[in-house]
Amino acid sequence: MTATTNAPLIGPVSRIDPATAYHRAASGPGMLRLDSNEGVLPSRALLGDLANADPELLRRYPDVSALEATLATRLGVAPQRLMVTAGADEAIDRACRAFLEPGRTMLLPDPSFDMFDCSAALAGGELVRIPWWDDAFPIDAFVGRLDARTAVVAVVSPNNPTGSVATLADVRRLAAAAPTALLVLDHVYVEYADADLTPAVVDLPNVLVLRTLSKAWGLAGCRVGYAIGSAYVVAVLRAAGGPYTVAAPSVALALSQLERGAEPLSAHVARVREERRLLSGQLAAAGLAPRPSQANFVLVECGPRAASIHTGLAARGVLVRNFPDRRGEGLETALRITLPGDASDFERLSEALERTLDAEGREP
Ligand SMILES: Cc1ncc(COP(=O)(O)O)c(C=O)c1O
Repeated sequence: MTATTNAPLIGPVSRIDPATAYHRAASGPGMLRLDSNEGVLPSRALLGDLANADPELLRRYPDVSALEATLATRLGVAPQRLMVTAGADEAIDRACRAFLEPGRTMLLPDPSFDMFDCSAALAGGELVRIPWWDDAFPIDAFVGRLDARTAVVAVVSPNNPTGSVATLADVRRLAAAAPTALLVLDHVYVEYADADLTPAVVDLPNVLVLRTLSKAWGLAGCRVGYAIGSAYVVAVLRAAGGPYTVAAPSVALALSQLERGAEPLSAHVARVREERRLLSGQLAAAGLAPRPSQANFVLVECGPRAASIHTGLAARGVLVRNFPDRRGEGLETALRITLPGDASDFERLSEALERTLDAEGREP
């Protein structure tokens, strides 16, 4: 039987185009995946904690209250101001469903993280894209595009895929200029950055900060993120979806990782920062143009060689992210390389890159 995703002639037809579904590149066994910005490898002991858990954990619907209280205490906010979500992805989706609607707009950087586009479209909102190519956040352009229709403003910092950051002054100015809009500060890579803006902006009434355990904490497979905002905004987000979206084993693993993972996390972050420096040096020495980054990845402009470098790395067992379909955003000749945060994986990356570049010839 052949499967087709074309709309049927007879039967239910959705306003959603199936071609817009997110597709992750396939990866074979033994491939080093450096295409999704995942963080540190958790210790095996974390799974041991789960093996010793009471099976009641599985029988009952999940209870996120202890995790929300733990995260809220770490940030010094009341627990009702923090909501645990199925990754930051779910927080983005809830924020869009709750605050965007047809006829209203979301301002977001271009390029940026694709799930904002997807969730905004599902909520029926319109996107206003603001180019962000210089390292500095385009604060004047954002402020200049605010109007009565602006419902949500997304500031992704560090931005994905560029790694650039907004400053505290940028976020404060934008929040003040858009008092009736929700300013979503996507801070999922903040552990790798120079400054964590969370404490300084979290009490602004229209700011929602998104964080995750998927990146520096190493739990992307668990799908645990969280959103921190005013009690009102968080209560609205709780109402904008189902009550049990994070599975109980993920909640238990998140609690264990927060308890045991602080030291591995800081060692991982230090290692990633070093790899960022080394990889950028290697790429620049080969005549390519890596961007400065404050995240766990480097975006590098490769010109006409992008496709062959991507293929050459894959042939040597290293998968990095390419963007062949994102022509309008100026990404089609760029590659985004996740920093593995591990000496032997970094060596693998570095060697595969060296061989690929040698095979290519060093002239762009
Ligand atoms: C900028 C940005 N925001 C949010 C997310 C989603 O993170 P999570 O795994 O917590 O859903 C990602 C994931 O890559 C991201 O790059």
